[in-house]
Amino acid sequence: MAELVVRTAGESHGPAVIAFIEGLPAGLPVDPARIDADLARRQGGYGRGGRQQIEKDHAEILAGVRHGKTLPGPVVLVVRNRDVRLEECPELSRPRPGHADLSGALAYLEPDMRNILERASARETAGRVAAGALAKMLLAEFGVDVVAWVSRIGEAVAAEAPADAAEIRRRRDASDVYCPDAAATAAMKAAIDAAGAAGDTLGGVIDCVAWGVPPGLGSHTQWTRKLDGRIAQAVMSIQAVKGVEIGLGYGAAKRPGSRVHDPIGYDAARRETSTLGFVRPTNLAGGIEGGMSNGQPIVVSAAMKPIATLKRPLPSINLKTKAAEEASYERSDVCAVPAASVVVEAVVAAELAAALVEKFGGDSLGQTRAAYEAWRRAALGL
Ligand SMILES: Cc1cc2nc3c(=O)[nH]c(=O)nc-3n(C[C@H](O)[C@H](O)[C@H](O)COP(=O)(O)O)c2cc1C
Repeated sequence: MAELVVRTAGESHGPAVIAFIEGLPAGLPVDPARIDADLARRQGGYGRGGRQQIEKDHAEILAGVRHGKTLPGPVVLVVRNRDVRLEECPELSRPRPGHADLSGALAYLEPDMRNILERASARETAGRVAAGALAKMLLAEFGVDVVAWVSRIGEAVAAEAPADAAEIRRRRDASDVYCPDAAATAAMKAAIDAAGAAGDTLGGVIDCVAWGVPPGLGSHTQWTRKLDGRIAQAVMSIQAVKGVEIGLGYGAAKRPGSRVHDPIGYDAARRETSTLGFVRPTNLAGGIEGGMSNGQPIVVSAAMKPIATLKRPLPSINLKTKAAEEASYERSDVCAVPAASVVVEAVVAAELAAALVEKFGGDSLGQTRAAYEAWRRAALGL
């Protein structure tokens, strides 16, 4: 079974963040500008702190690409840090509530929590975003389009997004908070300003939809292969994400079954789309049934907690003396939900790309495409 693997390395104030991507089909066209465009979006968004003015991320391709196309070997992307001072960074002895500091100190028997926070920091997501950009390039070859946006910051909530990926992207990219609703954008910015003025922070909700996903990605046969489980793990692993829903999610628990499940119909005129003609008047399942994509758009939602580092630090202790002291303060954002939406898009894309490679094989793009076409013909003949 072909396997697409994404791993990252690097510390927040070390020389670089690195993404290692193994298992992409050889011959995939790589557009470096699209990687950098996603890295720039990750650094942007209203509510971010000083760090982002220092960093201007660029992904250097260190391995796995020649003449603009992937080689059979792993791809290595390097995003250099500008704020390199890992050796000089002071020790951190007062753990910050909501961070990896205390749990990491206990897990690794590490009194200097600098050695924990440097890797726990969301700077790591630069690597996942760079890898996700490659995943999106593979998915685009198969007509899959993944878009994530901000639908809530604090109490400011966006109206329902349009049903069209290009329209969402156009509106989202015109918004300082990556929200396709202009009125909500203004309310979100005002909420961030108010929180910042009060020395506080805000979380929110990110929506992500993948259009054009062929049916049958993932598998019902083993819990590790279920697509919903894999997406949930990938999204939940993003720093500060505390909830993940697929389709109706928690909403399904409140409704009777007759209002949760999507009836099945058939429309021969839609055989050429990713649905293969199997139409559903609703998509409350969010495009996944039995751990497999069903041809409908995949709908994911993620809840991000407010940034844990507060200008007015929460009570903590000094790990050495155990005396009550305020938590340490590290330069920090007021709201990173827009940036996190870029990460959600990346990890959902990476998980879908991995499931695609698993199903169709990944030695070379031509072989992946041939397997995809053969499967499609067979599925249309069912
Ligand atoms: C894009 C992004 C930026 C973040 N920026 C900050 C930040 O500036 N300050 C902070 O305290 N936490 C920030 N976080 C969240 C922390 O990294 C995260 O809460 C922490 O590592 C603990 O992990 P957990 O919340 O998943 O348990 C950010 C998260 C993301 C996804």
